[in-house]
Amino acid sequence: MFEIKAKDMRGRVGVLKTKHGKVKTPALMPVIHPRKQAIDVKKYGADIVITNAYLIYKDEDLKEKAVDVGLHELINFDGPVMTDSGSFQLSVYGDVDITNKEVIEFQELIGTDIGTSLDIPTAPFVEREKAESDLEITLERAKEAVEFKKEHNIEMLLNSVVQGSTFMDLRQKCASELSKLDADLYPIGAVVPLMESYHYKELVDVVMNSMMNLPDNTARHLMGAGHPMIFALAVAMGCDLFDSAAYILYAEDDRLLSTRGTFKLENLQEMPCSCEVCSKYTPDDLRAMPKKERRDLIAQHNLHVSFAELRLIRQAIYEGSLMELVEERCRAHPALLDAVRQLANYSEDFEKYDPRSKKSAFFYTGSESLRRSEVFRHHKKLKGMPKKRDLIVLPPTRKPYSKFISGKLGEFYVCGDSHEIDLDDADFMVLDVPFSLIPLEIDELYPLSQSAAPKIRDGDSVEFISDFLNDFSQDYDEILIHKKVADILNLDLENKFEDEIIYAKDDVKKVKAIADYQFGWGAGEALFKGNIKIEKSKKTGKIRHIYDGKTLIVNMRASDSYLVLSKEGAKRLHGAMPYPQNRVVVNRDSEPFALDGKSIFSKFVVECDENIRSNDEVLIVNEEDKLLAYGKSLISAVEINNFQTGQAIKTRKGFKK
Ligand code: GUN
Ligand code: ZN
Repeated sequence: MFEIKAKDMRGRVGVLKTKHGKVKTPALMPVIHPRKQAIDVKKYGADIVITNAYLIYKDEDLKEKAVDVGLHELINFDGPVMTDSGSFQLSVYGDVDITNKEVIEFQELIGTDIGTSLDIPTAPFVEREKAESDLEITLERAKEAVEFKKEHNIEMLLNSVVQGSTFMDLRQKCASELSKLDADLYPIGAVVPLMESYHYKELVDVVMNSMMNLPDNTARHLMGAGHPMIFALAVAMGCDLFDSAAYILYAEDDRLLSTRGTFKLENLQEMPCSCEVCSKYTPDDLRAMPKKERRDLIAQHNLHVSFAELRLIRQAIYEGSLMELVEERCRAHPALLDAVRQLANYSEDFEKYDPRSKKSAFFYTGSESLRRSEVFRHHKKLKGMPKKRDLIVLPPTRKPYSKFISGKLGEFYVCGDSHEIDLDDADFMVLDVPFSLIPLEIDELYPLSQSAAPKIRDGDSVEFISDFLNDFSQDYDEILIHKKVADILNLDLENKFEDEIIYAKDDVKKVKAIADYQFGWGAGEALFKGNIKIEKSKKTGKIRHIYDGKTLIVNMRASDSYLVLSKEGAKRLHGAMPYPQNRVVVNRDSEPFALDGKSIFSKFVVECDENIRSNDEVLIVNEEDKLLAYGKSLISAVEINNFQTGQAIKTRKGFKK
């Protein structure tokens, strides 16, 4: 029902299948008023819409027509339609005269594609008791709806809405209880008041605490979110669907949406974009128009900017630049900047989803970038790395550093007590923003080289890399700091190191270090033994293939410098690295398929290494750890464990005799 095509952070480009066709996500569902609709939203880019089943139910005319000709004809839209249940009216008026079962039955009767049970939208910041008792009812009704759907063989897809107000444990509880049900989609509810009052920081907590407990293989809808300013942020947190009444409500009020905020027509000297409306009319033209005509044109603009933003977001996911877009968008308002800063508290979670390598480079856009999951991931790897005796800290150069650093390295200061350096037992690392310390041998790996930060460093980033260096260098005997590094960190060092430090490039050391970083410590020694031959590209001088004699062990991918296993490489890695490292374990039934080189579907995986991320090279084994095949993971460990449909591993080769 929901298939993921591309990912970045927790964001996904997906396809949602309904009985009225497929929808590419992230998608915006314009809210259609069943009686008052004036605008043809399909013409302006809507593939799916949402309307309110309760409003139809309450209106005798509409109800009769809907039952008679069906919902799609009633609202004149032939694509997928989602309906809400009257929960919003419940939250405004305190009561609705329809039961949960009735509203489910009615939605099915009129042919809704995606229906909603009668959840209770509990406002933010209420008393805990209120949130708890509301939640009990919401959960009960969600359960009742799912059971009703099963009992009556209802085809309609079903929304189960996450509530819990601003109590994070209640959001978690609600999401995990709902996950146990067999609902089809999981909206996150009662967030409109948070957005209207610019509580974006709290919005991040509410969405993340819900999201972290929802299944990954279904679409998640941020209910009532219709302002394009927050789309990128919400998508990065894993939201796939939005609904907008904003396009028309703002238009009624002479307000124009933009990703930078909202413009009041009365203040506009210039039209804010290049859509048809903005190109054709001036603000004066609009102000002079009759109300209705003006409203429809502003609504058209509002839809245009909303759909344009979603196209941009999907493109950002395809190329791996979603976080750059989020950081850019969140500079539109300090409260949004708070939201990005709050996101940093979830780096560990994002790291589990973020692909290992992406098409586009990591751009440092400000101190918020220091706490992105890529930086967290690199730090974690470094902390787990066996250290040499001494540390030599070098200043950044152009990238890749290793291309520009060799031979005599200039002036150094000594920080430890021994004042003796063993160059053969020293780690050579570059200090730079934001990854802090980058071992020279692995500097070409994504994103260490495929990243850029401004030359003029801000105070936060200097403090950040300085703190990391302090912390990381604790276990070394001797630390040599290059003079330029001392300048960057504003260190007043006294003990000059008298001898020359020389860095000798060594390709074998380099590929071993890359293997260790990529597959786990010890992988380098295991892979590259025997008569090692390294073949480089004549054009770029970069390493391409590594052999033992005539047997290929690995290729090095040009785009991100990660190693791609050959048959021999897979065997060596499997023999040397302990279970479960780099393993994906498949069940007995799929053994022959794996041996045959067929791709592996998530549902056949019994277990996998928790460190697998999308784009990783993995070993495919059976439950006795017999090597069956090897391939590239398309998703990360949490997703492999979570998904019941779709491909997990693109198998390169099977070991069938
Ligand atoms: N629309 C906006 N918020 C909500 C919510 O919490 N529940 C439902 N059903 N619809 C909404
Ligand atoms: Zn416009």
